[in-house]
Amino acid sequence: MDQIAITGGAHLVGDIPISGAKNSAIKLMTASLLTDEPLRLTNMPRLADTRFLGKLLRRLGAEVTESEGPDGPQTVLHTPEIVSAFAPYDLVRQMRASFNVLGPLLARTGHAKVSLPGGCAIGARPVDLHLKALEALGAHIDLNEGYVYAQAPRGLKGATIEFPFSSVGATEHAMLAAVLARGETVLIGAAREPEIVDLADCLNAMGAKVEGAGGSTLRIVGVARLTGATHAVAPDRIETGTYALAAAMAGGEVRLTNTRADLIESLLVKMEEAGVDVERRNDGLIIRRNGARLNAVTIETDPYPGFATDLQAQFMALMTVADGESVVRETIFENRFMHVPELSRLGADIVVSGGEARVRGVDCLQGAPVMATDLRASVSLVIAALAAKGETVVNRVYHLDRGFERLEEKLSACGAQVRRVKGAAEPEG
Ligand code: EPZ
Repeated sequence: MDQIAITGGAHLVGDIPISGAKNSAIKLMTASLLTDEPLRLTNMPRLADTRFLGKLLRRLGAEVTESEGPDGPQTVLHTPEIVSAFAPYDLVRQMRASFNVLGPLLARTGHAKVSLPGGCAIGARPVDLHLKALEALGAHIDLNEGYVYAQAPRGLKGATIEFPFSSVGATEHAMLAAVLARGETVLIGAAREPEIVDLADCLNAMGAKVEGAGGSTLRIVGVARLTGATHAVAPDRIETGTYALAAAMAGGEVRLTNTRADLIESLLVKMEEAGVDVERRNDGLIIRRNGARLNAVTIETDPYPGFATDLQAQFMALMTVADGESVVRETIFENRFMHVPELSRLGADIVVSGGEARVRGVDCLQGAPVMATDLRASVSLVIAALAAKGETVVNRVYHLDRGFERLEEKLSACGAQVRRVKGAAEPEG
């Protein structure tokens, strides 16, 4: 299994181009099931997760063609016919977002059998809100032997659905099902993340009628059919925030291109409070740090536009060497501090109690072998390693490959000493 080896201490200077958002791309790919015409997605990230979903979509009847288009990496998805409405356990288990094929399959064919995704490293992550939304739209749902059996033989019907709390996946799932339902659907308490706006824009380009994305109430007027379209995947806000934090950790000056500063405003405010220099530009942003020690800053994760849970681990890495004590509160997932023992191996001083971590900044981290546990936790170890003395080796890099495209290339282009060690033996335990 591959490892990433990082020798800390180098400043980062240069440009980092940001890829299309993983968490948009995978939902947009599932939207392609809603039409028998081709959907062309441009600005596509090339990631393990998008490849993996492509594999599932092919089984359902899609032709998935990746190429280098006139506007960069693109994927064309074309499902003339759904040949199977069955998403098996082995595929859904490996990537939870595969569960979101349920709504499109149901909307297009009137039936689907999709495995329940199960829990994952960061928490139990139930899908009750997804299923309630589909039931409200008239689907008959049975759970049996770990599978969701969904039926809507006479099609789905618009409804008013009120979410008790914000869920990105459930909002997207309800949208994907409601666009082909008869009549109007109103989603109250909808998630407001940029991925929802991206999905709504793509669905509208396909002929859907979705209004209000980005706010907490969405109105969807169902249409009889959707068509093909071309849609550019929005920039990855988590990748943007991750490299902003990497630049702040290592020091230097990094320009993040092909992205938007407004997508990570809640992070940028906290970085400025810590003493990082942030320049917001039309075509991205510039992050500068001249070497002065940063201040400890407290954060709490929240649904968008609050501080993203997907940036919590990376921010904590920055705080490990800040001046003073910072408190990091995680409010979205119950088990999202798995990076803490690994950061501690690098010399960080962190005490976790419930959903709160107290981080006392130390003068310096020390390189060590560490283990990636999930996607965002693993990149927090890379950030910490950039400022650690000596070499850090991150094991289980497949977590990183799920969501960060050419990470070592992008960092080393700015002067970081990062290399991939191919096929290294996995440490025991
Ligand atoms: C999405 O997950 C992202 N994943 C996550 O990113 C991200 O952390 C999360 O949104 C929050 O921003 C993808 O987009 C593929 P939720 P999702 O439904 O949709 C609870 C990454 O690293 N909940 O907004 O699954 C849930 O357990 C990943 O890229 C229910 O109780 O998140 C959580 O506590 C990790 N019942 C909260 O809601 C439900 O039916 C918010 O989850 C659904 C969710």
